[in-house]
Amino acid sequence: MADSPFPELKKTHTMARTGRPWRDFKPPPSAPVWGIIQGFGSYWMLVAAVELGVFDAIESAGGVAAGPLAAQLNVSEPHLAHLLDAMVSFGFLDQVDDVYELTETAERYLCTNGAASMAALVSVATGPHSNWTHLADTIRTGHVATPIEDDPEAFYGPLVQATFPTQLRAAGRLGVALGWARRPGLRVLDLGAGQAPWAIGILGQSPDSTAVINDLSDVLELATETVTRHGLADRVELWGGDFHEIEFERDTYDIVVLGHVCRTEGEERAVSLVRRAFQALAPGGQLLLTDYFADNDRKFNPFGVQMGMTMLASTARGGMLTHAQVSGWLRDAGFESIRLMEPIGFNQVYVAERPERDRSEP
Ligand SMILES: C[S@@+](CC[C@H](N)C(=O)[O-])C[C@H]1O[C@@H](n2cnc3c(N)ncnc32)[C@H](O)[C@@H]1O
Repeated sequence: MADSPFPELKKTHTMARTGRPWRDFKPPPSAPVWGIIQGFGSYWMLVAAVELGVFDAIESAGGVAAGPLAAQLNVSEPHLAHLLDAMVSFGFLDQVDDVYELTETAERYLCTNGAASMAALVSVATGPHSNWTHLADTIRTGHVATPIEDDPEAFYGPLVQATFPTQLRAAGRLGVALGWARRPGLRVLDLGAGQAPWAIGILGQSPDSTAVINDLSDVLELATETVTRHGLADRVELWGGDFHEIEFERDTYDIVVLGHVCRTEGEERAVSLVRRAFQALAPGGQLLLTDYFADNDRKFNPFGVQMGMTMLASTARGGMLTHAQVSGWLRDAGFESIRLMEPIGFNQVYVAERPERDRSEP
């Protein structure tokens, strides 16, 4: 009888043996491991390019060679040339005949004045860099040695300035979908507001609406600038203090915002925030709970899983939030009509209503 065309496969891959048939013959590539190793260097290359003002300088110059750019930035030309080539390899610059130009990605996200600038976010979005080098210890002990809660204002000040443009854009798009422009006179409570992108987004679209904006006192000062810049100072009250403790009116607000605050809090405190939000809402009012969530199987949305790890690396209680977890909190607190919206990629918002009549009422 003729042998199988692949006798070696026959021998090793019987019914009793599981595994992919190529395993013994063609090893998988090491590219995923190299990808991670080089990811570390890639990150620092981008941090350096932003810190040196490379993208802003190329934007002003139009197209430029390494020599004049090095002279303008007052840096070493051969070193800069290499950094520029690295940016080409990432797709942030184009190079033709040694002249470098911005790609649309760099124009939009990496220039300080880009339409959706993330320039300031690059160095702060990871959390404190030193915590990553201690991640194994954090996992060993279950404790972050220097969590951001040790000095929250020092961390959150730069962070909320860096995230403001992105969150304001998300809020603007959400408002168009939810029709804030057709709902005048909304009373808004924005807890852990940062520079208040969500409250500003709502007030910008809904005529005659007003907002109470809360954050830790030092961070809250930063909201004064954005609120004033958007011409909303007379429609806003600033309330400094811990959102777990401040007293606010019950049964009052049309919209309560929990914007990117739950993932640092841990289950117990996040549930408590959701319950406090429910109490603050008037019957029929809406909670906006926005965050970067993971899928329920914790494997189909790597961004959400990895964002959770960023929380684990640098916060005392934070971590991954799955949709099952968060929608469960909302239902348990009494919310109804729970919807999930995604005004910009990965930046998802639960929109949930406090019913006109609470479940406990007869
Ligand atoms: C990731 S930022 C989100 C800011 C803004 N809500 C947004 O969506 O862009 C988290 C904010 O929560 C604030 N925060 C953290 N813990 C707080 C607390 N216990 N009480 C009040 N604000 C707090 C931080 O200062 C920071 O401004």
